[in-house]
Amino acid sequence: MLSSPPDNKTFAKLKNDLILRAIKMEKVERVPVWIMRQAGRYLPEFREIREKHDFFEICQTPELACEVTLMPIRRFALDAAIIFSDILVIPQSLGMIIEMKEGKGPVIQNPLTTPTDIIKLNWPKFNQANVIIDVNEVKTEGMKIEVLKKVYQAITLTRISLNGKVPLIGFSGAPWTLMAYMIEGGSSLTFLKARSWLYKYPDESIFLLQKLSEVIAHHLIQQVKAGAQILQIFESHAECMNKQLFQRFSIPYLKAIANVVKSSFDKETTPPLILFAKGVQHSLSLLNSLGYDVISLDWTLDPEEAKKILGPNIVLQGNLDPSALFSSKEALQNLTTDMISRFGTKGYIANLGHGIYPETPIENVSYFIEAVHSYPTNL
Ligand code: CP3
Repeated sequence: MLSSPPDNKTFAKLKNDLILRAIKMEKVERVPVWIMRQAGRYLPEFREIREKHDFFEICQTPELACEVTLMPIRRFALDAAIIFSDILVIPQSLGMIIEMKEGKGPVIQNPLTTPTDIIKLNWPKFNQANVIIDVNEVKTEGMKIEVLKKVYQAITLTRISLNGKVPLIGFSGAPWTLMAYMIEGGSSLTFLKARSWLYKYPDESIFLLQKLSEVIAHHLIQQVKAGAQILQIFESHAECMNKQLFQRFSIPYLKAIANVVKSSFDKETTPPLILFAKGVQHSLSLLNSLGYDVISLDWTLDPEEAKKILGPNIVLQGNLDPSALFSSKEALQNLTTDMISRFGTKGYIANLGHGIYPETPIENVSYFIEAVHSYPTNL
């Protein structure tokens, strides 16, 4: 058991705890809202900083990562900040060399080509495989742990700079989503190379997913110790799995991670966990028993149907189609109001159903947030 997350005394008291209250299904005077990829290229100030600095240089420089995290918070009435980082810092920490190329996204120079490549990575040493991790026993020799340490430094700095304005969200990619990039070497529509590993090398795939789960749990716990107040796990590439693949190669690891993270803290300090798994309509009914406090719905799902399947006891987040931010002001307000009426205002966090697009008209971001905040909660 970790003694406590950060030394809370060194951080300012939280002034806006709407999201935390929504997660506890408590009363909220307005619906809380944040936006996936809120610190991204739709912001002119982010594009400006990107002209001077490489993407991963920003991730690796706590002052820059903090500055970028705060950009959307300064501009909009958002109810949470999310640390500027990337899910690919974990493969980087294992020794993979990754560049962010304009118009192409991430490119991994040395992707995994056969299962023998797995053990060539610089894995940290945990006490024993398949056993609840005591993170204090993690030995990190070989691993480029400084890549992850920069994230923790950025989190602490950002938490201090936020001065309690809104809570800070930490995050990680889920095992399958990371595995998909590590094999594919970059973004892909089909993730054919990665997906075919699941059929060609099922045992080795499971070995890789287990190893990744350990590192991910460690990374999430350390983020909380550094000051993150909420955690979100991104299983973005669940969308290229069918029901059988998702249930065999994703679900067990999502569950294990939630379990390890939750059991590392006592009840008072345990961070709320949000799960965003994209394209999992086939397995929605399973998501409320994995140990997550919030299920983030992607934009293809119908809130009312999802609510019926998931039941009343789980908090939901989402799920406006990010392309709806290209509509007129009035249409956007109506779409937002309609969305909230279908979720209901109790135990609900408004968000998009995936990351905001770089081309999004910036004024529409304000209209979206205003529409959420002006929705009556009757509480
Ligand atoms: O939400 C936030 O504002 C916090 C920061 C954040 C980024 N990436 C910054 C980023 C978060 C939470 C992520 C998560 C992430 N990264 C995911 C899961 C979420 C999702 O979108 O499904 C994934 C799959 C990645 C991997 C990744 N990073 C890809 C595929 C790309 C290229 C796509 C793109 O939008 O260009 C990135 C780049 C990236 N990560 C950018 C940002 C702001 C834009 C890159 C740039 O500035 O050049």
